[in-house]
Amino acid sequence: MFISLEGGEGSGKTTMIERLRQEFEGRGLSVVITREPGGIDIAEQIRAVILDPANVAMDARTEALLYAAARRQHLIEKVVPALERGEIVICDRFIDSSLAYQGYARGLGMDEIWSVNQFATDGLLPDITLYLDVDPQIGLSRIQANKQREVNRLDLERLDFHHKVREGYRQVAAKFPQRIHIIDAGRDPDRVFEQIMDIFAAKQKDFKGFMSK
Ligand code: TYD
Repeated sequence: MFISLEGGEGSGKTTMIERLRQEFEGRGLSVVITREPGGIDIAEQIRAVILDPANVAMDARTEALLYAAARRQHLIEKVVPALERGEIVICDRFIDSSLAYQGYARGLGMDEIWSVNQFATDGLLPDITLYLDVDPQIGLSRIQANKQREVNRLDLERLDFHHKVREGYRQVAAKFPQRIHIIDAGRDPDRVFEQIMDIFAAKQKDFKGFMSK
């Protein structure tokens, strides 16, 4: 099973991924946790270029192509082999990040970003996507409270950019209602995780009862 987590800055993806890992491993399931852009050496190198605060000159299409390139390499080298071994892959961001950030917020067009990414992924999509929806103001204030987290180029965007990202995600979620589940991530972590586990419980029958192990 291929699971992706999506959301704006400070939406709590990292916390929820850690809880999912504990939950699945506690049930004896084998889990691979990974992230985009990055997750493997070549993609981490691409990540460093994309997110370097010094790269202010980066063109929006260049950025979109680099995300797609990192995605391709990560998918081939890490995600697909893990899925073939029968492991659960939990990925921090995937194609929907590109649709929301590059397609919508940067204004490159969702259809254009979709096409570029079809080339990159051969059409492979997550089985389940959890979109952690939170007011950008709350998300950004969580990041500021968490001083250990790296500050990257996208964190420095103005608030209205993050509002656009949220609107982008909502539009993507409306296009893929079967795959993308909207989670109210403005609440405390226990409640958020509860909602996530309810979704897995409801989905169980689609995945041959993997949760009942
Ligand atoms: P990261 O530090 O991983 O952010 P977060 O902890 O919020 O996931 O940085 C990833 C940044 O890259 C984040 O701002 C979102 C952005 N991004 C895109 O714009 N498009 C993409 O396709 C992906 C994967 C990420």
